[in-house]
Amino acid sequence: MTNSLSPRAQEMAARFKELYGSSPEIIVRAPGRVNLIGEHTDYNDGFVFPAAIDRDVMIAASPRKDRQVRVFALNFNQSSTFTLDGVQPATDTRERWSNYLRSMAWVFHEEGLGTAGMNVALLGDVPLGAGLSSSAAMLVASGLSFEASSELNIDPVRMALLAQRAEREFVGVNVGIMDMYISALGQKDHALLIDTRALTYEAVPLPKSGISIVIADTNKKRGLVDSEYNTRRAECERAVELLKASLPDITALRDVSAEQFNALSGSLPEITAKRARHVITEDARTLESVAALKAGNIVRFGELMNGSHESLQRDYEVSCRELDTLVQIARSIDGVYGARMTGAGFGGCTVSVVAEGAVERFLAEVPALYRKATGLNSPIYVTTAAQGAERLA
Ligand code: GLA
Repeated sequence: MTNSLSPRAQEMAARFKELYGSSPEIIVRAPGRVNLIGEHTDYNDGFVFPAAIDRDVMIAASPRKDRQVRVFALNFNQSSTFTLDGVQPATDTRERWSNYLRSMAWVFHEEGLGTAGMNVALLGDVPLGAGLSSSAAMLVASGLSFEASSELNIDPVRMALLAQRAEREFVGVNVGIMDMYISALGQKDHALLIDTRALTYEAVPLPKSGISIVIADTNKKRGLVDSEYNTRRAECERAVELLKASLPDITALRDVSAEQFNALSGSLPEITAKRARHVITEDARTLESVAALKAGNIVRFGELMNGSHESLQRDYEVSCRELDTLVQIARSIDGVYGARMTGAGFGGCTVSVVAEGAVERFLAEVPALYRKATGLNSPIYVTTAAQGAERLA
């Protein structure tokens, strides 16, 4: 191991050696993410604008000569072992965290990518269940460790697609591509405008000074999220089916312009129309917000973030009392340009763009006001856009 490794990676290497008796041959990391704008658009072939955050999952590993994967989660002080032949989900619920590694082993096998056995240690600091994509970080880091131990060379977009297939088919949540894409391809100091149909992106620099991205956690556990998520997807598909009667060439809500929608929305059932209106207006807001950011117009960027929240609250109905309360409190702080829920909804985090000079005030006032309103604590993370997944050793 070289000394150029970060203190955290060196700590990982030391813990690996304690567990397995020799230094790891491989160290990889994959970050969580915060989505600035473009919510519930990725499974409608639309646009999203996330950044990787400075919290990640780190994996230390060495190949084994047999077909076993032995993994130790330093966060949970818990081990799990499985074989690469016929990978199954963990039967013991205490080993559920190992399903991400298992699912990547499964998808590599499904797609004909040969994998080798490994000894693995993993450690993460992406808050769990907070809507900051700890799962995508686990999947992408797992994929990178298999890639390295099996001496494969996988394009990062393919890695994101492998992780998405793993989460859909092995873990069982029908997610879009955003979380794994940004974890695999994020760039330091940039957010990525991702075209989720073409699977291409434009890296947009975030201002070097003047503003901060501040994440606040509602601490509301996201109970309903998986079933409601799948329901929203189905509602969007239904909207496309119905709109096809007048617009035969569309394949996703991405293809419907605001003008077309306004002319046709009256023919849709009320709920279907609301869901579609969110997606169609959110795509437009996302593109406009990126143009505003490039023009240095943070005020407009903030207004569009606020508009995104209102649309998610009223039309898409994926917000909740805690998210709405935290957003209102954030906006009441002088120096906050905009605030919205981020991620799937029903709990999890808000994201605010805050003038640098107002961050201290945000930290001092928001948790106290939120606690007074809800009785809950609100951990706050002032974050910077981090590099996407990488091999460190
Ligand atoms: C979750 C999913 C993403 C995306 C968001 C909502 O994070 O994993 O694919 O759909 O919700 O924007």
